[in-house]
Amino acid sequence: MKTIIGFRKMKAAQERISVVTCYDYTSAKIVNKTNIDAILVGDSAAMVMHGYDTTVNADVSMIEKHVAAVRVGAPDKFLIADMPFLAHRKGLEHAMDAVGALVRAGAQAVKIEGLNADQDTIAHIVHSGVPVMGHLGLTPQSVHQIGGYKLQGIDADAEQQLLKDACELENRGCFSLVLEMVPATLAKKITDSLSIPTIGIGAGPHTSGQVLVYQDVLGMNIDFKPKFLRTYMDGFSLIKKALNTFTADVKALKYPSEKESF
Ligand code: KIV
Repeated sequence: MKTIIGFRKMKAAQERISVVTCYDYTSAKIVNKTNIDAILVGDSAAMVMHGYDTTVNADVSMIEKHVAAVRVGAPDKFLIADMPFLAHRKGLEHAMDAVGALVRAGAQAVKIEGLNADQDTIAHIVHSGVPVMGHLGLTPQSVHQIGGYKLQGIDADAEQQLLKDACELENRGCFSLVLEMVPATLAKKITDSLSIPTIGIGAGPHTSGQVLVYQDVLGMNIDFKPKFLRTYMDGFSLIKKALNTFTADVKALKYPSEKESF
């Protein structure tokens, strides 16, 4: 299993880090047998697994259950759990209860979106022995504040702010930083300014690694086609075809055969 020291070494050696989200036991068993470096049990579970419109519907008990399932399926992978909407914004005690639940469910680290209100919380979690991954740029838990899922850090002020926030997160002890939907040039500037690795999504090729949602990589989500997404198989069509073939076999009395019967 990779460690936070290993991730830092990978950045120093310019070896890219691959991260994929995962939410369930069966998928985790597959990921466990791959070369993927780390798993993120993201709050995108609320959208991908539960069908909500945004990630604000995720809560600690939802993420905790997904973490537990993924941990059983992928015992060999470094597992990062998302701190869901407001979990770290209701005081330190509440935040630490959430961290405790996620770590006991099987996470090695937690990911926290944004910075401003969370400075002490992040340092406290890190000093309590739990690695924290930061998350800047597009922070989907603030989608209503941001006004949509759009590119961040596009003017000079926003760029400076993101650079400053990234350095602050490193100072607070984050072991890595997700950069979501920021221009590639800015992601490079931030990556070059930090000693911790950056993990990009919609942030161009210069980050220390990349993260994508499992269902997106496998082409299972045909309604989601952002510019940054590359799908590595047409999962939607393959699964649909398999299920239709099963149905056709059932209706044509081709399944089960004698060999498949007792
Ligand atoms: O929840 C999630 O899937 C994420 C990634 C997009 C980084 O936060």
